[in-house]
Parts: sequence; C-alpha cells; structure tokens
Amino acid sequence: MIKPIQAIRGMNDCLPTDTPLWQWVENQIRTTLASYGYQEIRMPLVEDTGLFSRAIGEVTDVVEKEMFTFNDRDGESITLRPEGTAGCVRAGIQNGLLYNQEQRLWYMGAMFRYERPQKGRYRQFNQLGVEIFGIPNPQIDAELILLTARLWKNLGISDNVTLQLNSIGSLEARKNYRQALVNYLTPRYDELDEDCQRRLTTNPLRILDSKNQSIQALLNHAPKLQDYLDEESKAHFTELCRLLDGLGVRYELNPKLVRGLDYYNKTVFEWVTDSLGAQGTICGGGRYDGLVEQLGGHSTSSVGFAIGLERLVLLVQAVNTHVCLPSPVDFYIIFAGENTSIPAFFLAEKLRTELPSCRTMLNGSGGNFKKQFKRADKSGASIALVLGEEEVEAGNVVVKFLRDDRPQEVVDIAQICEFLNHLSTK
Ligand code: HAM
Repeated sequence: MIKPIQAIRGMNDCLPTDTPLWQWVENQIRTTLASYGYQEIRMPLVEDTGLFSRAIGEVTDVVEKEMFTFNDRDGESITLRPEGTAGCVRAGIQNGLLYNQEQRLWYMGAMFRYERPQKGRYRQFNQLGVEIFGIPNPQIDAELILLTARLWKNLGISDNVTLQLNSIGSLEARKNYRQALVNYLTPRYDELDEDCQRRLTTNPLRILDSKNQSIQALLNHAPKLQDYLDEESKAHFTELCRLLDGLGVRYELNPKLVRGLDYYNKTVFEWVTDSLGAQGTICGGGRYDGLVEQLGGHSTSSVGFAIGLERLVLLVQAVNTHVCLPSPVDFYIIFAGENTSIPAFFLAEKLRTELPSCRTMLNGSGGNFKKQFKRADKSGASIALVLGEEEVEAGNVVVKFLRDDRPQEVVDIAQICEFLNHLSTK
C-alpha cells in the first residue's frame, strides 16, 4: 500500500461529526450580526506581505515569526493572512468604502499563523471579524461589546466568559509612557528574562503582558499607563464604561492589557475563559483610529474585534449541554427485491421536489433489509420509507417510524408527500 499523505501540522479537518455544531454556531453568529444590520465582506486569503508588516507592526510576534510568507512565481512576496483587519482596511480603501462613510462590516474565514500547535491554537484557524469605520464615539465601542455579549448569551456560554477592558490612549500618550517604562526597566535589565530583554528595545509595551511571575512582580512598581493617558482618551473610556455599566455588562479593568498587534489606540478588550486551558482568549479587539491613514487612506475612526471560532466551538462543546443539533436526514429510503431500485430512486427525487425543506437520503449500496435499517438508524432519520417488490407492485410505500413506537403504515405512493407533510405539521 502507498503511504497516505497527512495534513500539514496545525491544520485540521473539520469532520461531518463536527460540522453540525460549527454550522449551528455560525448561524447564531450570522443571526446576531444581522440584528445589528452589519454587512458581510469577503477578502482574499493572500495579500502582499508589506500589508501585514505595515499594519500589524514589524516587531510583533505575528510579523516576526508567525507568518506564512512565500515568493510567488514572479518573485513577489505574498503572505497567507494571519488576521483580517489589515485586509479589510486594504479592501475598504481600494474600493472607496471608507472615505466620509460609516461602514459596519464582518467577515468569517481562515487565518494562518505559524505558531506551536496545541489545544485551541492552530496554524490554520477561523475567525469571525467585525470592523466598524467612520464612527468615533464610544457608543460604537459599547455596541461591539454588547454584540459579543449577546452572542455569548445566544450560544449559552455567558457564565463562562469575562470581559477584560483597558484604554491604551493616543499614540502620543503611549510614546511618552513607553519612554517612562524603558527608563524604569533599563536599570533592571538583568532582572528581565530573555524575551523581555529583547522586547525592551523592540516593543516594550508587550512586556506588560508577560506571563512570567517575576516580571509581573517587577512591573508592580513600574509607571502605569493610566497615568499617561491623554484627556480625550480618558473621556472616551469613561463614557464607554458608563454605557456598559448602564446596560449591566460586567467587566474587569485590566491595566496590563495591551494586545499583541501594534495598530490599537484608546479602547482595547478581550473576552477570556478559564474553561479551555492555556488558550483562553476567545475574542480580542479595540480601536485602531490610525490604521486607515497608515495604509494610505484618509484618517478614519475604526474599531473592531475578532473571535477565534475553534476556541468558541470548543467552549460551546464544553459548557452548553442544551444545544440541540438537527439530524442531517429526515427520511431514509430503503429498497430490496427485483425492480425496486428505480421506483426508489424516483421516490427520492419526488420527495426532494415536493418537500424541499425535508432531507431525504436514498440507500446507496444495496444489502438486505436488516442492513439497510441499520444504515437508516445511523443516518439519524426519523422515518424509513420501505419499498419491496410487493409495495412496488401495489403502488404503495411502507412508512416506518424509527424514533418512536408508532405502528408502521402503508401509504399509496401517490399520496406519500401529503402524508409526510401532514406528519411534520402535526
Ligand atoms: P488577535 O487577538 O490576534 O486579534 O486574534 C483574535 C482571536 O483569534 C484570538 O482571541 C483567538 O481567539 C483567535 N486566534 C488567534 N490566533 C489563533 C491560533 N493560532 N489558533 C486559534 N485561534 C487563534 C486579531 O486578529 C485582530 N485582527 C482583531 C481585531 C479586529 N482587532 C480589531 N479588529
């Protein structure tokens, strides 16, 4: 036998046993987004490499070590998108969607990061992203947070997630703070671990979210970002908190939350869970008012978030035991005996034409009635429609109820759709 080829590490198949739950989650997402009037945008999976280094920042983990970057056949450097914000802004500028307009956009799809795979962390994963353009006021930041809270409720996971919130202020405020932090940490260089020593010169703010306990102890006496916030950012944040308080959304203020991508300013937030182990952030986002201009557009207020769908599905699976997924099949057609296969084939198509919202499956690979009933049962169908020689001759079909003990019925094949329709409306 030839050795089978395996999937690329960190890139997983989503099998038919898993897709019903994914579809259910995706439907909840689409319905929730629709209730806010947001519109879908679809961008390419591959972009010019420069887009990501310019948008996300040269010295971020994503750009430094996690991108799938290749040269195409013309020697152009292209990258599988590690996130959707950069591509969405690029598309917005290129298609004239952003200048002097409000846009409320969402996208759902695959992202790629060359990270070490583990539960909840993959090299190909899916995100729902939402990006809002042209609205500076904090009401829209609050709306986004409320939308996510509503989604958690619809998914039955509200009790298992917490909202972490922070403001990282204007670019100018952050620059001042960065300097103060560097001034504080430089004389303590030897107390930093290797990673933080490197970050001290490349991206000092990322030291704040170091997982190392001794670094966190060192930071307890460091200057606080909050003390450097500009007045406008402070007012924006106060208003956001007031709106969330008014609507009863609970949050934790986390002054060390800075996010791993460089484009943020003012509001940043994450929804985290402790039900999934190490990879507990299911959603992250914030304002990025400078990005559109940075990518060649006009200055545009922008705010958004992205949810990791693998983590979301894992969480729903772990905590919501009430999800009721529909079986993929309603009617399973069974046939055996001479001259039964063509009438069965016709019957299947008749049902699909006359009962288009029902799902009909025709037994595929022969076998005796016993075998076929086993398959019918496995398919999840609630009803088996049985055609033997006798039924075909008499123009009948036997209706067998697979999930309860109602007695079987013999129905005229001309009346079968009416009969089944009547059952489903009862
Ligand atoms: P991010 O925090 O890099 O933000 O990713 C958002 C979410 O994607 C994470 O919270 C996590 O749930 C999921 N995620 C990230 N990496 C992986 C991975 N390797 N495997 C599985 N899930 C993963 C962004 O991507 C920003 N574009 C969010 C945003 C939109 N900010 C403003 N607008």
